[in-house]
Amino acid sequence: MKAIIPAAGLGTRFLPASKAIAKEMLPVLERPTIQYVVEEALCAGASEVVVILGNNKPEVMAHFSPAPDLVASLLRRGKDALAEAVSHAGALPVSFAHQDQPRGLGHALYCVEDLVRDERFFVLLGDVLVPDADLLVRMRALSEYHDGASVIAVFEVPLDQVSRFGIIDGTPLDGDAPHGSVTTWRLNDLVEKPTPQQAPSRLAVFGRYLLTPAIMAILARTAPDTSGEIQLTDALRELLRTEEIYALLVEPDEGFDCGTVASWLETNIRLAWRDPHLRAVVPAAGAVSST
Ligand code: UTP
Repeated sequence: MKAIIPAAGLGTRFLPASKAIAKEMLPVLERPTIQYVVEEALCAGASEVVVILGNNKPEVMAHFSPAPDLVASLLRRGKDALAEAVSHAGALPVSFAHQDQPRGLGHALYCVEDLVRDERFFVLLGDVLVPDADLLVRMRALSEYHDGASVIAVFEVPLDQVSRFGIIDGTPLDGDAPHGSVTTWRLNDLVEKPTPQQAPSRLAVFGRYLLTPAIMAILARTAPDTSGEIQLTDALRELLRTEEIYALLVEPDEGFDCGTVASWLETNIRLAWRDPHLRAVVPAAGAVSST
């Protein structure tokens, strides 16, 4: 199954840091965010990883290209581990597609329509991390259990934050599981940025999708929203009219958002807390609110 990684957004919430580099190149510990995302797709057995890039930000391609001079120089200085890390990044099998204008996530995906016309595919947002977890494998298993249906990942957010996200209306599928331990739902609807009063649940769309190719025909005719962007959420609502969609829970310690300065900072702190070499220099993870 191919994995598509959109990374062509403007990253306005990171300006001016994202003026000349994609926000997906900002580091989380020692690696750029996008490298974690590519590695996650490859670990899940993706047959091909395609990163969608915008204009004038060639550094993502440079990061995934070999750098023989740098590697040789590091080896000469006896920095073998760093040479290995640089070689590894340059050897990851990644290809690239292009979105000429940042016209929304739905538009970005439609740019690779010819690559996934006849097959299901993963979408991994380039500013969301799920390191060291088998989420994509579980999503594929859930899809296969339901005859190849689409699956989206969701995470639980506090009620006062539902208006920042797409929120699902879903029917729990875990049979007699006690309240609080449900992990899968069949979608009835999706509501974009509801008020706490309107919200059908506290389950927000998270940034990992397994989609059937039918989404492409829908994206082709999905109208832009009031800000001129073609939204994937609108296309998913349309897909629900003809196909079932399932949701799978991302546990709080599995997934990390890096889309805003605050969430990126929190992700760095939470992952540094897991690293024995960095632990001493970060505040206790419990002191960081998780959002
Ligand atoms: P976001 O909305 O979080 O990213 O999109 P953004 O638009 O870059 O950021 P802000 O809102 O301006 O701060 C989620 C993912 O989809 C990609 C982004 O690069 C990000 O990884 N995306 C978004 C595209 O590839 N193309 C787009 O037109 C929009």
